[in-house]
Amino acid sequence: MLFGLLDLEWFRIKSDVIDLIMDQRKIYYFDNNATTKVAPEVVEAMLPFLSEQYGNPSSAYQFGKFAGEQVRTAREKVAAMINADPRDVIFTSCGTESNNSAIHSALVTQPGKRHVLTTAVEHSANIKFCEFLEKRGFEVTFMPVESDGAIDVHLLEKSIRPDTAIVSVMWANNETGVVFPIEEIAAICRSKGVLFHTDAVQTPGKLKIDVADTGVDFLSLSAHKLHAPKGIGILYVKRRTKYQPYVIGGGQEQGRRGGTENVASMVAFGRAAELAMASLDDENTRVRALRDRMEKGILGKIPDSVRNGDPTSRLPNTSNVAFDFVEAESVLLLLDQAGICASSGSACTTGSLDPSHVLVAMGLTPARARASIRFSLGIYNTDAEVDYLLEQLPPIIAKLRAVSPLKPQPA
Ligand SMILES: Cc1ncc(COP(=O)(O)O)c(C=O)c1O
Repeated sequence: MLFGLLDLEWFRIKSDVIDLIMDQRKIYYFDNNATTKVAPEVVEAMLPFLSEQYGNPSSAYQFGKFAGEQVRTAREKVAAMINADPRDVIFTSCGTESNNSAIHSALVTQPGKRHVLTTAVEHSANIKFCEFLEKRGFEVTFMPVESDGAIDVHLLEKSIRPDTAIVSVMWANNETGVVFPIEEIAAICRSKGVLFHTDAVQTPGKLKIDVADTGVDFLSLSAHKLHAPKGIGILYVKRRTKYQPYVIGGGQEQGRRGGTENVASMVAFGRAAELAMASLDDENTRVRALRDRMEKGILGKIPDSVRNGDPTSRLPNTSNVAFDFVEAESVLLLLDQAGICASSGSACTTGSLDPSHVLVAMGLTPARARASIRFSLGIYNTDAEVDYLLEQLPPIIAKLRAVSPLKPQPA
């Protein structure tokens, strides 16, 4: 018993020391496509709903009704960010659930149609669900992409079949930042009478989203990519589109998604949506310039480094670079020791030894794909942080190349 208490005390001291070290160690965060820092304004907005305002929005008394009103306001704010009617916005638990729900609904509401058309470069939230469907007898076409990551819309049009239930194409790629022509694809789908879903998880705060203009039937978002907490997303469903819920239970979300509302996170998402609209300009001017300076610096200072993906039709914050003759995992390890966070592939596949399916689909050799790193910036990045990265990265690559068996030896 005494030992137990001493152990506990020792554990507490150890945790305090770790916290102290972590506090003092500055993090240079270049992984904003994986997740983002929760904005202080967002924390402030959600805090009351994690403490004294714990009412259930479905309760009939005032204490619950107040929570319900906050959910309604939050829905209006998220809807405003994508120019949607708030009634067409369903809160979900994440982007993955939103993607799964859209495809699931299209198949269940059109039982005669058993084909899904998507691309080979979607997030695993889409690819893995489609692979699951294939195992259950549905047919899926994973469209290829060009070497710059772009999609051939004519091929997409030709790939739509009479039994296609839904076309699902992401708005912007999370690994390369390459942006797809969503308006054009939506128009093709409309002319063919096929439902269209877009995974727009990487888009808010970086590109303007207008569901009315674009004419998409379904659109997925995830709050943790725009400075709100993890575990909350939305699925936009266009008015009069048939919808079959994926999570079935209580009558929440007008019967379209069961489960007691995550009030604090919904409020957070609403506040983050307001901030994302306000930071759209900053992201497209200051953050873009920062990204461009970082990329130019990397490509200029490090020989045998190559940018992956179309440099123009791209998110303003993302840069994916291959450093030939090194393994990205080793680079990331040394960057981590310098306090720098970046990634190879998507965060959901980190640790996998397979090369990125996105880069392989673009025709990169497995070796070059394994040598590629994604740097994704955000509104909190500064010039000084980019300077630090440009100072740290070249010697790390040089050090690894010096001992790399992959580097050709001079003749
Ligand atoms: C393009 C894209 N889609 C979907 C997801 C999954 O979102 P969530 O983490 O909210 O499930 C991500 C997350 O990385 C993403 O980048």
